[in-house]
Amino acid sequence: MKILNFFPLSIFQDQIDLGKEKKASLVDEVRDMKNNSQNLSYKENNDSWTGDTQGHEFIHKNPKFDIFFSELRKKIDLYLDFLKIDTKQVEPFIQRSWATISNGKEAINNHKHLQSHLSFAYYLKKNPEDSKFVLQDEVFRNEFIPGLFKSKTAIEKKIIKQMSISTAPRVSVEVKENDIVIFPSKTLHGTERNKSNNERISISGDITFLSKDSNLLEHLIPSYENWKKL
Ligand SMILES: [Fe+2]
Repeated sequence: MKILNFFPLSIFQDQIDLGKEKKASLVDEVRDMKNNSQNLSYKENNDSWTGDTQGHEFIHKNPKFDIFFSELRKKIDLYLDFLKIDTKQVEPFIQRSWATISNGKEAINNHKHLQSHLSFAYYLKKNPEDSKFVLQDEVFRNEFIPGLFKSKTAIEKKIIKQMSISTAPRVSVEVKENDIVIFPSKTLHGTERNKSNNERISISGDITFLSKDSNLLEHLIPSYENWKKL
């Protein structure tokens, strides 16, 4: 027999090595952002610190991160190439970027970046024991009995004897320091809970694609050059 797998979610994973010294200076920069948080009441006890909610949501405007964003551009191009997207017709814009810091049992709840097209996470500082990146399924194409994959009792009774990539409602992605993952922003994601983090630092960001030439093209966002403020 053979099994045919169709309609996969494709997550890009690669590495960006900025060198020890550069990374140490960026880690210091991120710690400074945390020390200058503007909205600490926003953070609940076991939530990670997320710079976008604390007044640090445009780190792509900080020249210290220039080298990172130029490496990021290369990775975006590789992902687009995998998807066979014509990069001559669309242009990526970084619209928001921020750092996250997780200590102890802190985690990032499941969420999506609905104002964006592609998102990324880069692991500037990560120990092997720190929490992994978690992707959640919402479509369950193989769930032929509704509720089967997430039913507490069905799980307890082991109706599915062993979860596999064809039945899992979520996957923990093995990520290490220097790794970068790129994924569609609409993907539900978060970090593992109940892990003990030792200052896990990631850089995240959102990228929007504008069409270069919207003539005769209905569905993409036209270039900002044709926009007008109302
Ligand atoms: Fe996110």
